[in-house]
Amino acid sequence: MVELKTENRPMTALRLDHVSLRVGKHTILNDVSMDLPKGRVTALVGPSGSGKSSLLRVLNRLWDGVPRVRVDGSVWYGDTDLYAKRVDVSVVRSHIGMVFQRPTPFPKSIFQNIALPLGVYGAARSEIAGRVESALKTVGLWDEVSGRLNQSALTLSGGQQQRLCIARALAVEPTVLLMDEPASALDPKSRRRIDELILSLKDTVTVLIVTHHLDEARQVSERLGVLVNGRLVAFGETDAVFASQNDVVARYLSRHDEG
Ligand SMILES: Nc1ncnc2c1ncn2[C@@H]1O[C@H](COP(=O)(O)OP(=O)(O)OP(=O)(O)O)[C@@H](O)[C@H]1O
Ligand SMILES: [Mg+2]
Repeated sequence: MVELKTENRPMTALRLDHVSLRVGKHTILNDVSMDLPKGRVTALVGPSGSGKSSLLRVLNRLWDGVPRVRVDGSVWYGDTDLYAKRVDVSVVRSHIGMVFQRPTPFPKSIFQNIALPLGVYGAARSEIAGRVESALKTVGLWDEVSGRLNQSALTLSGGQQQRLCIARALAVEPTVLLMDEPASALDPKSRRRIDELILSLKDTVTVLIVTHHLDEARQVSERLGVLVNGRLVAFGETDAVFASQNDVVARYLSRHDEG
């Protein structure tokens, strides 16, 4: 099995190199190249249907096995192309975690939600309780749930469920965390907590977040990509992209601000 290492590229966690995604004859992503700097937050914005979620799915191989799907180009993690045949998908997902728009807790206890994936990824039994506690502390949930770890995760509020899902993804210590509109189904207070949490991950985890909120992108990200019709029409320092004079980019950013 191929081991994944990024040490050989100390500044970059993931590099997309001319990535295209087709489903049947339909091109969903068209020749996308971008780098995710290690330990930084990169945001991805763009109109509905422009391919943002599809791009995240490419990065942890969620298209594997879907009929009529073809991924071209490369996704480099260090010197390893994640689409090379010998790379095991479970290894990819232990390094690259994902959080979805709607919270997706398992219908199990709060404790088991985090302990189960830890067990799957080979954590020793003796360290599981400690790592569950530490993951819950990272997302600020420990004080809220420490007295009810054996209750079903489905008894938590939406915002708590989403923080539990982030804790679950972080517990296996991924290098990269993909977040697909992680706060859009939540109330403003829970949204702020998620944004603060994303900022607190800086330096330890590389984050790629899709959002429809430009103010959120501006607040949490250092790099910003704009995807329109499956093409990356802008990518760079967040402030520079917001200041872009490029017609397509400026039109998207200004129209979106009004709405
Ligand atoms: N499994 C699939 N099969 C075929 N086409 C798909 C599939 N999933 C997504 N698409 C198409 O790919 C395009 C991009 O969809 P995607 O969900 O990535 O957009 P998005 O930018 O995340 O949109 P939104 O902001 O609404 O979430 C759309 O035209 C969508 O219909
Ligand atoms: Mg989407």
